[in-house]
Amino acid sequence: MASTAASAAASLTAGTPTVSSDIPTGGTTTGGTAVRVRGFTRSFGDVTVLRDLDLDIAPGEFVALLGRSGSGKTTLLRTLAGLDAAPAEQVSTPGARAVVFQEPRLLPWKRVWRNVTLGLKGGRGRAQAAAALEEVGLGHRVDAWPATLSGGEAQRAALARALVREPQLLLLDEPFAALDALTRLRMHQLVLSLWRAHQPAVLLVTHDVDEAIALADRILVLADGRLAVEERVTLARPREVGPEFQALRRRLLGHLGVEQPAPRDSAPLTFIPPAPPAAGIRRTWNRPAPVNGHGVPHNGANGAQTNGAQVAGGL
Ligand SMILES: Nc1ncnc2c1ncn2[C@@H]1O[C@H](COP(=O)(O)OP(=O)(O)OP(=O)(O)O)[C@@H](O)[C@H]1O
Ligand SMILES: [Mg+2]
Repeated sequence: MASTAASAAASLTAGTPTVSSDIPTGGTTTGGTAVRVRGFTRSFGDVTVLRDLDLDIAPGEFVALLGRSGSGKTTLLRTLAGLDAAPAEQVSTPGARAVVFQEPRLLPWKRVWRNVTLGLKGGRGRAQAAAALEEVGLGHRVDAWPATLSGGEAQRAALARALVREPQLLLLDEPFAALDALTRLRMHQLVLSLWRAHQPAVLLVTHDVDEAIALADRILVLADGRLAVEERVTLARPREVGPEFQALRRRLLGHLGVEQPAPRDSAPLTFIPPAPPAAGIRRTWNRPAPVNGHGVPHNGANGAQTNGAQVAGGL
């Protein structure tokens, strides 16, 4: 197992796609658990990144993993993917696993469908790739070259490549981080519909608190090498931003150590009369600037850290 994992890790380092056929079969999970980790520690030299970590993921469960940059999220994901060796008695996962990374990792010299079936043994070839590409809305790009795909299309092709492997465990490492906000929302809908249709257990690594709340059944925060926080998300999907969503967001941001402004609605509206009225200029309603704990006015428009993009920049 270790040598296979090492070769998979080497191919990853070289920038080539890593697909489930590269991934060695993990310890078989039993007893209604897709992922079972017990007392797992991972160190690089003197630095311990994961410390005595426990984790369970149920079959078909959608789990999001948050944590500051460098907290060890990718290290955990690589371990679950089998890209880094781990003792079978500490880490057990299903044999059928697939990973999607932040960058789509398509081979530019292979057509899209060949990228989708790359390394797949005993598959139905083009027809199977075409079906998976159809599912992610890329049925019309089966024979395209990767260089002609947009960022969102390339990431959908990467999802199709994961899909054809029929994973029981789908590992997603910030797969939408490089996409624009609108494409990211569409990808959220796509991932949810694929998850419902195929029902793999999912571990989504993200910096985006809103993304985690929108998608996951359960949200974990990795800190100091351990899963320090667990929040279950009981909101019905699709999840609108309402009071419960915002309360959960505030709690998670607090766990992540992100300073939060007072809720925007806490300051009453005041009318600032225009002086003197001039032609073509309309009256405006403004809020008084909120004041933070140091008596310094806080610019809510620029300083608020309540959406995913700002969180991503702040962690
Ligand atoms: N192969 C390696 N050799 C040495 N150190 C490593 C190696 N892989 C990861 N690390 C270190 O382990 C720590 C955790 O890295 P990891 O990539 O898991 O963090 P992360 O939580 O995914 O961060 P980010 O959110 O920035 O992607 C970092 O300090 C990183 O430098
Ligand atoms: Mg990472």
